[in-house]
Amino acid sequence: MKKYDNTEFYNIISPIIQNSDFLKLKNIKHHGITRYDHSMRVAYFTYFVTKGLGLRYKEATEAAMLHDFFTDEVVEDNGVGRLRKHPNYAVMNAKKYFSLSDMQEDIIRCHMFPVTFTPPRYLEGWIVDLVDDFAALYEKSLSTKKELSAATTFLFLLVLQYIKMR
Ligand SMILES: [Fe+2]
Ligand SMILES: [Fe+2]
Repeated sequence: MKKYDNTEFYNIISPIIQNSDFLKLKNIKHHGITRYDHSMRVAYFTYFVTKGLGLRYKEATEAAMLHDFFTDEVVEDNGVGRLRKHPNYAVMNAKKYFSLSDMQEDIIRCHMFPVTFTPPRYLEGWIVDLVDDFAALYEKSLSTKKELSAATTFLFLLVLQYIKMR
């Protein structure tokens, strides 16, 4: 069963999720999940919000799916460099395989505003920027919960061991 069960959504992103380079994102960690799953979440919510608002939702959904299309280009960069540069790598990779409209290129390039300094030129771009932020917060909170629960289990086992030893 599909996680995001919407036929139109799948039809829009289908050429992207059949691209072998894009599928590499399934093996890359991103906010405690995979970059592929993060991109899927951002694209799915972008689809609903932009469609609901009567915007160019197909273009916006494709751009949202491609917004973090980078693999090992940023390995050399430190934290802030990585945050600032990865949108450009995503545009570069997306253009290798897909023809991007002006709006789609702008959405991908500006999705890290205000970390990158240029604001999106289109409302669709502001929506992807916001949806990405909310998705990142949600995903980070989930992985923090997992870490907390693992730490609690570890502490519990330690206490148990201590009690046994007495
Ligand atoms: Fe990003
Ligand atoms: Fe992202």
